[in-house]
Amino acid sequence: MKLAIISLKGESSSKIADEASNFFSEVERLDLRKIEVHSTSKGLEVLYDGNPIKKYDCIYVRGSHKYSLLQRTLTEALGKESYMPLRPSSFTIGHDKFLTLVELEKNKVPIPATYLAATVNSAKKILSKIDFPIIMKLSTGTQGKGVMFADSVQSANSILDTLEVFKQPYIIEEYIETNTTDIRVIVAGDEVVGAMKRKATPDEMRANIHMGGKGTNYIPAPDIEQIALKASKAIGADICAVDILEGLKPMVIEVNLSPGLGGITKATGKNIAKSIAKVLYDKTKLFKSSKTSQDYNNVLKDINKNEEIVTNLEVKAGKIRLPEIITRASGLRSDEEVSISVSKGKLIIKKM
Ligand SMILES: Nc1ncnc2c1ncn2[C@@H]1O[C@H](COP(=O)(O)OP(=O)(O)O)[C@@H](O)[C@H]1O
Ligand SMILES: [Mg+2]
Repeated sequence: MKLAIISLKGESSSKIADEASNFFSEVERLDLRKIEVHSTSKGLEVLYDGNPIKKYDCIYVRGSHKYSLLQRTLTEALGKESYMPLRPSSFTIGHDKFLTLVELEKNKVPIPATYLAATVNSAKKILSKIDFPIIMKLSTGTQGKGVMFADSVQSANSILDTLEVFKQPYIIEEYIETNTTDIRVIVAGDEVVGAMKRKATPDEMRANIHMGGKGTNYIPAPDIEQIALKASKAIGADICAVDILEGLKPMVIEVNLSPGLGGITKATGKNIAKSIAKVLYDKTKLFKSSKTSQDYNNVLKDINKNEEIVTNLEVKAGKIRLPEIITRASGLRSDEEVSISVSKGKLIIKKM
């Protein structure tokens, strides 16, 4: 089976590709920036480096929010023929923090109260009604950049004015007290394959490793595992990282579609890349077998509708072998008595 990893060619993608070569017969690393999606009267077409993309059994698409449209449409074009661990819509939802929370809430995954406002004035009205401190976020921020903390209405107002200058949406979130920690859970397939607790440095409230946070291995309680698995299903991402704040109760703050593996591998001591590669392989096998039976059922339906199938005959040592699908559609068994009428170019087998 063939795998393609389409990414920005970062270290984590390379690590997964290395591990995947122990499972798949071929592994190719494609650069997301060389992908084109054409939508013409011929339908959706995906090109790589100017040529139609090759066929793969599995395609794992990674990369940042900047490419969410490309990721979504390329998955729409190729997701029927290849197993792709992320559904098309997950790229637009997962790369936007507010859309993510809306989708999670719809699927009964607990989240902090979060507000979206269109203008500074309506954002200021929201601020007058909620308790401080609060968090404000850029919808596409990552690695802690784009998360702002305000402990008073004065500092919140000044942040709002800055957001206006940079034409950013106003996302205001309830502050969850966790002693500046968060939990990162890696979901692959239907399982949690690793988790770490991150603690921010003393001069920070963001626990991200990129902000200096320190990660330690964490064994999630069953309720945290369930929340992470539910979040991955809600977003439509078989492989993802779920960030959870454990306040009075656990709440999900974001789902990462393309998680870095350095920090979690170090904190857990586990080979997370290998677990992801194995899930890619197992799910591809499952996808291929369900696709074969789906094709089979479709042909069966066609035969039953038209009572006709166009195929080649296999004649071996003078005997005609009919494909299994014909035997199935006819419902004939070997102990049944049949009449066979035959003439040149015609053969009719009928149950007596
Ligand atoms: N509502 C919140 N209350 C308290 N801390 C938060 C909240 N939201 C985010 N944080 C802190 O900021 C960090 C980054 O937030 P997150 O939403 O995961 O964005 P990013 O994509 O930048 O990682 C979190 O890991 C957490 O430490
Ligand atoms: Mg995060």
